[in-house]
Amino acid sequence: MSDQSANSQAIEGAPHSGVPDNLPAAESDLYQPPQSAIANANVANYLDLRHEALADIEAYWDARAREVIDWFEPYEKVLDASGAPFFKWFVGGKTNIAYNALDRHVKMWRKNKLALIWEAEDGERRTYSYYQLWQEVNKFANVLKSMGVQKGDTVTIYMGRIPELAIAMLAVTKIGAVHSVVYGGFSEQALASRIEDAQSKLLITCDGAWLRGKTVNLKDIADEAVKRSPIVHTVIVCQRTMQEVQMTQARDYWWHELMALPIASPVCPSEPMDAEDPLFILYTSGTTGRPKGVLHTCGGYQVYTATTLKYVFDLKEDDCWWCAADPGWITGHSYIVYAPLILGATGFMYEGAPDYPYPNRYWKLVEEYSITILYTAPTAIRGLMRFGDAWAERHDLSSLRLLGSVGEPINPEAWRWYHRVIGQERCPIMDTWWQTETGGCMITPTPVIPLKPGSATLPFTGIDAAVVREDGSTCEPNEDGYLVIKRPWPGMARTVWGDPDRYVEQYWSEFAKQGWYFTGDSARRDADGYFWIIGRMDDVIKVSGYRLGTAEIESALVSHPDVAESACIGIPDELRGNVIHAFCMLNAGVTGSPDLADTLKLHVRHEVGPIAVPAELSFVDSLPKTRSGKIMRRLLKAQVQGLPIGDVSTLAE
Ligand code: PRX
Repeated sequence: MSDQSANSQAIEGAPHSGVPDNLPAAESDLYQPPQSAIANANVANYLDLRHEALADIEAYWDARAREVIDWFEPYEKVLDASGAPFFKWFVGGKTNIAYNALDRHVKMWRKNKLALIWEAEDGERRTYSYYQLWQEVNKFANVLKSMGVQKGDTVTIYMGRIPELAIAMLAVTKIGAVHSVVYGGFSEQALASRIEDAQSKLLITCDGAWLRGKTVNLKDIADEAVKRSPIVHTVIVCQRTMQEVQMTQARDYWWHELMALPIASPVCPSEPMDAEDPLFILYTSGTTGRPKGVLHTCGGYQVYTATTLKYVFDLKEDDCWWCAADPGWITGHSYIVYAPLILGATGFMYEGAPDYPYPNRYWKLVEEYSITILYTAPTAIRGLMRFGDAWAERHDLSSLRLLGSVGEPINPEAWRWYHRVIGQERCPIMDTWWQTETGGCMITPTPVIPLKPGSATLPFTGIDAAVVREDGSTCEPNEDGYLVIKRPWPGMARTVWGDPDRYVEQYWSEFAKQGWYFTGDSARRDADGYFWIIGRMDDVIKVSGYRLGTAEIESALVSHPDVAESACIGIPDELRGNVIHAFCMLNAGVTGSPDLADTLKLHVRHEVGPIAVPAELSFVDSLPKTRSGKIMRRLLKAQVQGLPIGDVSTLAE
């Protein structure tokens, strides 16, 4: 396929062909894929495949399910839509994700291939072959069994970015239990409420974690969280920082001591799981303060994440793949832990901050480990870009062949810098739009299609995405609208843990009549059919790519004895995408002061975590509300940004 034909196919496949004159020049800039990317791509006929997949999604996903994973028992039906929106995929099939990620590779030549390369923030290195990783996972799986963990039980994991986190996740899924990984940047209350919601009796944590040369006291936070959610009867503590911690007798056990016991045998069979059995819960922010446990299941998630990694990132046997996310978020679950291992790849994982000790850390790692594909977030790119080109230019980045971006819209300026300085104008950038709820990439380029800086381009094969108006009619080119997914896909979340009504309400009520999934995002499509994601339409704020619910920060503020009521909004920020501005109404008799503002920020840090700390905190006498009592954050936002306040007919006073 020539460069030109890839381009004309893109235009042909779009609903509105041709580039109209009124598109801004920057948007009509097309970056053609290099010949090498097209010649070697896992799917060269990508656009044909898109048409083919949408013509028969069941046949398409059936073929992928056979291509990317093994099944203990075949499924009888690819898709069961009878209980929509509670869709079932690969009905009756039996499989296990740890089997596909490890066991099957150990039975063949990949046994001695490197599965995971890890570098600590202080430069320490560790490598695991598939065989070594398999043994560690088996040992820990046997430890968990000896602790009474059974198929279907939930286990909460709260650790830093270390190989043991991946080992713990794989060990849990190997025995058919369900993990809930809580990001190590969350604090006491956030962890406690997630433990409580998942009803986990067992917690796996670390003594501490390294970040920017300092330690984060994970075990202390875990202790406080367990105090608040006493359902936990066992805590396994992995030693990382060697700092002093309090070990509670008959509750807390050291990872390394358990792994040295005879019960930690290096052989453990993978539990056959039904395709629709729960695989993991991952909490994410929604519109209420209560954490929302997104549930993924054993069959469809594997098929979806492995397919997207293979096609979007064109993963090959000899690649060295680096997804620089945190395993505590969906990106890390899908593209650090599960999909790369399922595909038998060599993955790289780095413990620390991108600019520690110097802003060349990422580029030094790329050079040292000959990373071929790098997948990171706009916030990291912007953060490193501000230090200038020289930090990257002093390193040999010639091993890179493909780049990726995820988590928030990437501004064209950062895209171009990433393309020019890091990709040296050679590496296509895969700007992947997706969500915790989607399991894997949804709107994304592949290496063979022309790119536009700032656009996530086109829906993935088998994904039926659209931008529509409130009444469901399709938006005109360049008209802002609701981003919806019209047909199910295997990686979709199956429910909200313990709250199926909330699942329906949150995702399937906006377009209930049509039966479409509403993403919560607004977007527009240009005349070529390329998607441009605008941002969240709900009370979710993306700060440095992290997803935070205003309600969670507001309830943390209100839990302080001086605060009567609070409202939080996101204000655009050049570096972090958005920052939080909090408004607080104080209790009678309390006066606002800079000291109190600092105290309240610290309180949020303790309750939710450092990422949730408001950049600005103002004291107000009242908050704008609708007559039904809902806070009108839109008005606060308009006021802070000096924008017109718009329709205020529902304002109470
Ligand atoms: O608003 C979109 C934004 O991140 C949201 C999902 O956040 P989360 O569940 O934390 O998952 C992030 C990692 C998959 C989306 O609703 N988002 C994610 N990727 C992009 C994006 N916005 C624009 N462009 C992207 N590539």
